[in-house]
Formats: sequence, C-alpha cells, structure tokens
Amino acid sequence: MHLLNVFSSVLAGVTTLQGVAALPQGLWSRDTNAPTSSSPFSPKAFIISMFSPEAGAWYGIPDFNVLAVNITVPGLSMLFPDVHCTGDGQICQLTTGEGEINAATTIASLVASPYFNLTQTYFMIAGIGGVSPELATLGSVTLARFAVQVALQYEFDAREIPANFSTGYVPFGTKAPGQYPTSIYGTEVFELNEALRNKAIELASTAQLNDTQAAAAYRANYASDPAYAAGASGPTIVPCDVATSDNYYSGNLLAEAFDNTTTLLTNGTGLYCSSAQEDNASLEAFLRAAIYGFVDFSRIIVMRTGSDFDRQYPGETATQHLLYDHQNGHIPSIANIYLAGVKIVEGIVNGWDDTFEAGITPTNYIGDIFGSLGGTPDFGPYSGGAPATKRSIEARRRRRV
Ligand SMILES: *[C@@H]1O[C@H](CO)[C@@H](O)[C@H](O)[C@H]1NC(C)=O
Ligand SMILES: *[C@@H]1O[C@H](CO)[C@@H](O)[C@H](O)[C@H]1NC(C)=O
Ligand SMILES: *[C@@H]1O[C@H](CO)[C@@H](O)[C@H](O)[C@H]1NC(C)=O
Ligand SMILES: *[C@@H]1O[C@H](CO)[C@@H](O)[C@H](O)[C@H]1NC(C)=O
Ligand SMILES: *[C@@H]1O[C@H](CO)[C@@H](O)[C@H](O)[C@H]1NC(C)=O
Ligand SMILES: *[C@@H]1O[C@H](CO)[C@@H](O)[C@H](O)[C@H]1NC(C)=O
Ligand SMILES: *[C@@H]1O[C@H](CO)[C@@H](O)[C@H](O)[C@H]1NC(C)=O
Repeated sequence: MHLLNVFSSVLAGVTTLQGVAALPQGLWSRDTNAPTSSSPFSPKAFIISMFSPEAGAWYGIPDFNVLAVNITVPGLSMLFPDVHCTGDGQICQLTTGEGEINAATTIASLVASPYFNLTQTYFMIAGIGGVSPELATLGSVTLARFAVQVALQYEFDAREIPANFSTGYVPFGTKAPGQYPTSIYGTEVFELNEALRNKAIELASTAQLNDTQAAAAYRANYASDPAYAAGASGPTIVPCDVATSDNYYSGNLLAEAFDNTTTLLTNGTGLYCSSAQEDNASLEAFLRAAIYGFVDFSRIIVMRTGSDFDRQYPGETATQHLLYDHQNGHIPSIANIYLAGVKIVEGIVNGWDDTFEAGITPTNYIGDIFGSLGGTPDFGPYSGGAPATKRSIEARRRRRV
C-alpha cells in the first residue's frame, strides 16, 4: 500500500473506535502478540510516566513484565513511540515526554488508538515532582484530588512588579494578584475521584518506602522552621494536591503564590503540596475522551513522589537551592514510584472482580471547571449554572447516546 494511503487509513481508523478492521496492523505493531484493532487490549491498570527515569522504575521488576509486548501508537512522542504491556494485556505503561504539550498530545493519541479499549481502565499518572516542606519531603508519595494549572496567568518580571503586589502573577482578566480569574480557559482545575484516591492511599500504605542517608541529610536543613516539620521528617504517603506549570518554578515566593492560586481556584478546598509539568495537560486529554465515553474519568489516580523541595530551607537562597545544592531526592523518589505504585497496580488487578471492575463510585464532584462531565463543580464560577460550552457539550453527548 502506498504510504499516503496507509496514513489516511490510520487516520480514518483513529477517528472511530468501531469498524477499524482495515488498519494496516503489521506496519504499526512490530510484535505478533500485540493487540489488533479488531481484538484490542483492555488493560486494567495503565501507568503513565513522563520521562525515562520514571519509566525505568517499572522495567526489570519481579512483579510483572511490561516490556513483554510493545505497540507503536501514532501520535506518541518520537522519543517514546511505544505503549508497553504485559503479555496478557492487563497492565500497560507509556511515557508522555515532559511538559504540558507532550503530555496532552500523547494522551490524546492514546485515547483515540484502536488498539485499546480503555473504557474500564484505571490510569495512574506516576511521576516525580517538587514538594512543599509544609506537607511532604524527599521521597514522599503524594496522591492528589485536585490538579491546578497555576501558571495560567499574566506574569510580570520581578523588577517591574508594583510595590503593593505580593507576586508578579495576576489571574487572567483581573487587575491584581489574588482576584478570581474572569477569563476561564477550562484547564485551570481538575477534580479527581476522592474515594479512589483514598483507596489508592490505603493500598500504597502497605509499601515500605525507600529513604536514603543523603536525602535525610538535606531534609535536616528544614528542621529549624516548625512549619517545615513534614519536610524535615522521613517520607510517608500524603493526600494533597498537585500544581501544573511548564515553568519550573522554585523559591519561597513563587511556591507561596501558587499555593495561594490553588486555594483561590479550588475555593479553599485544595491543599497544595506538589508541583509538576504535565498533570493538567494529561487530565484535559482524558477529560475530552471521557465526554465521549472512551475513558472513565472516575478511574484516574495522580501520584507524585518528592524529588526536590519547591523552596529553599531557612537561610538558603532560592537560586543556590535549585541550581547548586544536591538535594538527593532523585533516588528515593524514583524508588517510591515503584514501591508505592506497585501496591496500587496489583491492588487493582487482584481486586478486579470484587471491587475495581464495577468502579469506585465518587462521592465528590469530578471533572473540570466547566462541569463538562455533568454535575455541579464544587469550585469555580459555574457552581451556580452552566456556561454555554457545557450546554453544548452535553447536547453533543446526548446526540451520541
Ligand atoms: C520492548 O521494548 C523494549 C525497549 O523499549 C525492549 O527492551 C523490549 O525487549 C521490547 N520487547 C519486545 C517483546 O520486543
Ligand atoms: C470495550 O469494553 C467494554 C467493557 O468490556 C465493552 O462493553 C465495550 O463493548 C468495548 N468496546 C469496544 C469498542 O470494543
Ligand atoms: C492545571 O489545572 C489547574 C486546575 O484546573 C489549574 O488551576 C492550573 O492552572 C492548571 N495548570 C496548568 C499548567 O495548566
Ligand atoms: C496598587 O497601587 C496602585 C497605584 O496606587 C492602585 O491603583 C492599585 O489599586 C493598588 N493595587 C492593590 C492590589 O492594592
Ligand atoms: C533505596 O534505594 C536505593 C537505590 O535503589 C538503595 O541503594 C537503598 O538501599 C534503598 N534504601 C532503602 C532503605 O530501601
Ligand atoms: C498569599 O496569600 C496571603 C494571604 O492572602 C498573602 O498574605 C501573601 O502575600 C500571598 N503571597 C504571595 C506570594 O502572593
Ligand atoms: C468559588 O469562588 C467563585 C469566585 O469567588 C464564586 O463565583 C463561586 O460561586 C465559588 N464556588 C463555590 C462552590 O463556592
């Protein structure tokens, strides 16, 4: 077949989940065990990594082999073109590439792939991130209910910030920091299934977490401030929320500003503790797929383990802390992705028949700031009524059913 025809038939296949038997399977699936579009994999657990060290935490482990089947999926990163699965297709893993654009593009491509039926799949975004010493430390395992896109704001250089502004970040459509944004993009906040999050915490709590002497030595620097007691203690499992920003921020003032943004956008419910560069982007792609029933938004877990602190310790400068200090969080954070994460993955697979196949019913609102999946957001300006976008999405969804 001419390459152009191959590509257009792939595109045609990608746009509809049904009726894709004409896909040129041999071209994209290098592996005879790989799923086909007529007999797709329905993984129970899908691990989302963002870069090689996070992915490596899952390779060569004694529990299961996700490198048994490789499936090349069009639209994935050039650096990480394959979805990896166990031989029985029950557990899969991919790597998005770093930052919001890579994350959104990879997840949008995955959810449209005819090789997977993801309607019942549990997704676990499992990455490292910066952590606030107010709630967590190097190696801590944080599990989020909210993901907040904190840097989606106007920004002024520090040298041009008016004396009466507490930060250079100003919410869109407003005149000063701390005012509720009037221009809403829709990706500001995602709320996940809290009952599933709590179940994941229960499973992860059976893990013996990794810690190292080098990480302990760095975190000891935080002991002089009582507000940083969590930062100065050993790693644990912590229920708290994640901020997303392509801009890798660091230091007391930005950490406090984005903590404030999380509080503002979640109407005081969110508990900021970790920072990363992808989660809102992945969640937006999942949310758009959930509107059409391709994935179940109540089956998403966001786990971030502490690889560094989001701010300096008392007496240290912000730049010294980020650019020159050896924080020594990388080893325990990568180790704990696996140690805590494997308990969650195995809990889902082993508890499938009894618990997970039917789903963990959410008791909180789940979805985005628009209320796109139905229900009324418990944060944001649309808690009283739906904006036009929500009504049109609901109408589109009804037409599909
Ligand atoms: C899958 O890909 C990985 C490298 O990404 C490789 O190590 C492994 O051997 C591959 N598995 C198969 C079955 O080819
Ligand atoms: C996907 O899996 C679900 C649950 O097993 C099933 O009901 C549905 O028909 C499948 N969809 C496709 C397109 O195969
Ligand atoms: C991520 O989502 C949250 C909540 O929707 C939002 O406040 C935050 O600005 C988003 N971050 C990015 C980088 O998009
Ligand atoms: C900051 O000062 C300017 C100029 O005096 C004033 O217009 C503005 O309202 C002040 N903003 C805040 C947030 O106090
Ligand atoms: C933590 O992981 C590192 C790297 O694998 C290992 O050298 C160390 O012994 C582990 N420590 C504990 C307490 O498990
Ligand atoms: C965060 O909010 C508090 C309380 O409103 C305020 O005092 C502080 O200046 C804010 N910090 C930043 C960096 O914006
Ligand atoms: C959240 O805060 C916004 C802005 O102040 C407000 O419009 C909205 O009603 C609040 N939502 C809830 C659920 O309290």
